[in-house]
Amino acid sequence: MLLVWMLGFLMLIFSVCGCPFTLTPSEMVVRFGDPVSINCSTSATDVEGMGWEAPFGGTGFESPPVVTWRVDKVEEWTPNPFCYVTLDDGFQCTLSPVITVYKTPDFVSVSDTVRGPMVEGREHDLKCDVINVAPVQNLTVTWYRGNETVLTETFNDSTMTPVNTSSTLRISTQRDYNGLTFRCEAALHLGPKGPQFLPNVSSPPYTAVVLYKPSMKACPDHVTVIESAVFSIGMLSCQPDGKPSPTVQWFYEEKLINPSKPLTRTDSGKYTAVVENSLGRSNTSVHITVEFSPSFTCKEHYEITVNDKQQSICEPVGLPTPTLTWFKDGKQVVSPQRWKKNDSGKYLLNASNTHGTAEHILYLDILYAPEFKEGNESKEVLQGEDVTLSCSADSNPPSNIRWIYTAAVNSNVTTEGRQKIITITRATSTNAGFYVCVAENKVGRNTRFITLMITGNTSKVLFPAIWALLSLLIIGLTLLMVYFHNRQKKRGQYSFVPVCQMSNIAQANGNA
Ligand SMILES: *[C@@H]1O[C@H](CO)[C@@H](O)[C@H](O)[C@H]1NC(C)=O
Ligand SMILES: *[C@@H]1O[C@H](CO)[C@@H](O)[C@H](O)[C@H]1NC(C)=O
Ligand SMILES: *[C@@H]1O[C@H](CO)[C@@H](O)[C@H](O)[C@H]1NC(C)=O
Ligand SMILES: *[C@@H]1O[C@H](CO)[C@@H](O)[C@H](O)[C@H]1NC(C)=O
Ligand SMILES: *[C@@H]1O[C@H](CO)[C@@H](O)[C@H](O)[C@H]1NC(C)=O
Ligand SMILES: *[C@@H]1O[C@H](CO)[C@@H](O)[C@H](O)[C@H]1NC(C)=O
Ligand SMILES: *[C@@H]1O[C@H](CO)[C@@H](O)[C@H](O)[C@H]1NC(C)=O
Ligand SMILES: *[C@@H]1O[C@H](CO)[C@@H](O)[C@H](O)[C@H]1NC(C)=O
Ligand SMILES: *[C@@H]1O[C@H](CO)[C@@H](O)[C@H](O)[C@H]1NC(C)=O
Ligand SMILES: *[C@@H]1O[C@H](CO)[C@@H](O)[C@H](O)[C@H]1NC(C)=O
Ligand SMILES: *[C@@H]1O[C@H](CO)[C@@H](O)[C@H](O)[C@H]1NC(C)=O
Repeated sequence: MLLVWMLGFLMLIFSVCGCPFTLTPSEMVVRFGDPVSINCSTSATDVEGMGWEAPFGGTGFESPPVVTWRVDKVEEWTPNPFCYVTLDDGFQCTLSPVITVYKTPDFVSVSDTVRGPMVEGREHDLKCDVINVAPVQNLTVTWYRGNETVLTETFNDSTMTPVNTSSTLRISTQRDYNGLTFRCEAALHLGPKGPQFLPNVSSPPYTAVVLYKPSMKACPDHVTVIESAVFSIGMLSCQPDGKPSPTVQWFYEEKLINPSKPLTRTDSGKYTAVVENSLGRSNTSVHITVEFSPSFTCKEHYEITVNDKQQSICEPVGLPTPTLTWFKDGKQVVSPQRWKKNDSGKYLLNASNTHGTAEHILYLDILYAPEFKEGNESKEVLQGEDVTLSCSADSNPPSNIRWIYTAAVNSNVTTEGRQKIITITRATSTNAGFYVCVAENKVGRNTRFITLMITGNTSKVLFPAIWALLSLLIIGLTLLMVYFHNRQKKRGQYSFVPVCQMSNIAQANGNA
């Protein structure tokens, strides 16, 4: 073989120098099994004969100027035919065309080198088998991920006969490769003499199955919803993602919940989704605010102690927090710093927020401790007179009134409406003393003191007696003056009778 080559080489040198002939075409690319024909022609006149020498399709010794090597089916991988020309002088020279015989692969396929699916974050090798291709030195294997080229491999192998070869693609597995198709394509690069389109065979697509840890996609951080019978956690935009498909569990305050249960106003808060598959688990939190229109849960009647500073008597519920307005007799009122007696009455409360308004009617009852209309006092009565002591107090609620005093046979307590009255019939000195009125309700108590003084009959009689005495004295003195006046005139006898009479009168008065 080597000898033949060396011979051919020598002949080539000769032909270049002296052999005036050409091969048309001189280079050929031909598919295995296709027909081929090459003309060997000469313009020289001193040619005795020419022909083709080949493993098949060789010709006999023919006359110039053209001799054709024709093969219906090329079935030799390295045909190496050569054309020879014998000149009249017996000199012989040869010329060989360059023939490349190619064959596209029988099939190309992609396979896993390891059993089992791809796993995110791990390396995974895919193998492309190219079966029965020639010549392998002109083969290019191109790897595609989706429609992207990821690797191109050529083969440094001079074998001209068909071979089986393979290419390996190392993948750093990413989760978004899941579902993508990988394929390899074997193409023969045969140069300008080759076919217009690269002969190529593509593998069937290999669809990647990538296992990856679960996560929640498209989950909002914070969601505000309006209380309704329709919104539930399951309606969030959150999409569980993971391979194998993860399980999803929702937790609220550490407790597992049913995600299809509608949320109510008490369900605001942080919800956590735990997504889990064989590769791991992750959790995602969503803060949910359930808003709702205002409503009142207050009583209809409220009791407030006077001067109370309490402002939040009746607070509406609602989210956002409603603004509350108080109305009394159709006029808006600001709740006072301290509640006053005259704040009792009917109120209309109006609460509103972005989702609506609510109204409520309530009655305020301002409570206050008993207050007496009269103050403490001292009372003086004559012995034997009838006395009434009354006690009443203003209060809310009405107070319980009682008298504290030393009871006597001639005294009596009666109730008249809200008053308590002590009646003393013909007062005597035993009725003298303190009379204490105590008024009390649940807010407080108040006390009123009356000091009763009884004065005796003496005073009643004494004054007229003194007056009588004084009048008698004046009459007596007048009579005396008249007597002495007369005596100076008559020089009569002295008499003391008027004096005795005066003392008798005084004595009688004292006994009376
Ligand atoms: C070879 O020569 C023949 C005539 O002798 C011609 O018909 C044919 O087209 C030629 N072929 C090539 C490839 O030139
Ligand atoms: C691959 O296909 C996508 C759409 O399927 C296209 O947007 C993209 O441009 C393509 N890339 C290449 C390299 O052809
Ligand atoms: C091809 O292989 C030969 C020996 O096996 C080596 O000498 C040559 O450098 C290689 N060429 C390329 C391009 O790898
Ligand atoms: C190539 O592989 C095919 C099938 O796998 C087999 O039949 C054939 O013998 C192989 N050829 C070579 C050269 O190993
Ligand atoms: C085939 O490949 C070899 C090596 O790369 C190259 O020298 C040769 O020209 C190629 N053949 C054709 C027909 O292009
Ligand atoms: C593969 O061959 C087809 C025709 O068979 C051609 O249209 C296509 O361009 C070729 N692919 C490459 C990469 O050359
Ligand atoms: C969320 O994840 C953290 C850490 O991974 C864990 O401690 C916590 O219990 C998880 N929450 C729930 C509700 O499972
Ligand atoms: C209620 O009484 C307070 C004093 O206690 C007084 O200032 C206020 O004007 C009164 N309001 C009405 C509506 O009478
Ligand atoms: C209550 O407030 C809302 C909003 O401010 C208003 O539209 C409505 O008329 C009010 N109702 C009354 C009775 O004032
Ligand atoms: C009467 O006097 C007492 C003791 O001095 C006092 O506690 C009380 O408040 C007074 N009551 C009235 C109504 O002034
Ligand atoms: C007490 O009151 C009753 C009825 O008012 C009366 O009949 C009775 O005489 C009174 N008793 C005294 C001791 O005043």
